[in-house]
Amino acid sequence: MNANAYAVVPYCTDHTENVWLIDRLCFVDPWLKRTFIGELEAACALNRVAADAAFRVLGFCFGRTIADEYTIHRLAVHPAWQRRRIAQVMLRTCMRHAALQGARHCHIEVRSGNTAAQRLYHACGFERIGIRNGYYCVGGEDAILMHCTLDGMPGSKNA
Ligand SMILES: CC(C)(COP(=O)(O)OP(=O)(O)OC[C@H]1O[C@@H](n2cnc3c(N)ncnc32)[C@H](O)[C@@H]1OP(=O)(O)O)[C@@H](O)C(=O)NCCC(=O)NCCS
Repeated sequence: MNANAYAVVPYCTDHTENVWLIDRLCFVDPWLKRTFIGELEAACALNRVAADAAFRVLGFCFGRTIADEYTIHRLAVHPAWQRRRIAQVMLRTCMRHAALQGARHCHIEVRSGNTAAQRLYHACGFERIGIRNGYYCVGGEDAILMHCTLDGMPGSKNA
């Protein structure tokens, strides 16, 4: 697949198998397949994938918009497609959609040792606002809390 031949689209059933596969490749604490199936019906979900016309998935960004907050729960790009700005495009797309829905803040937690993800979030306007010591069950690593304001995003109700 050409890395340019993808679109960021809403997550649907046809994506589940690929998303589950990428999750297992990318995380030490992968989600169960039934969790990804449940995401299809999850209330307040703002879930997007980078996929081609044949539903092949390159990456995914899953979160929830509740009141004025968009919280990202899971973000990954298939290892074969990393460093092509796919995560940045997905993240910015999701933030724009959240802003259109009325969200004013975006939050994310990231492992303290995950410098790649932290750099990505910095590049998208996030700042570190706190730490949760020993937060992750697998590995006992600290979680860095990061925040980005969505006010002023194109289309934002608070632009
Ligand atoms: C983190 C992750 C989602 C980044 O996806 P990606 O599509 O490769 O990221 P992008 O190409 O959009 O990178 C955007 C910026 O993030 C930073 N970045 C991304 N990957 C990086 C890496 N391996 N090392 C250093 N910086 C990195 C860079 O600043 C990059 O900009 P640049 O390429 O101009 O230097 C991907 O590495 C991944 O899936 N990792 C495993 C799962 C994970 O850690 N998810 C995040 C959980 S909080």
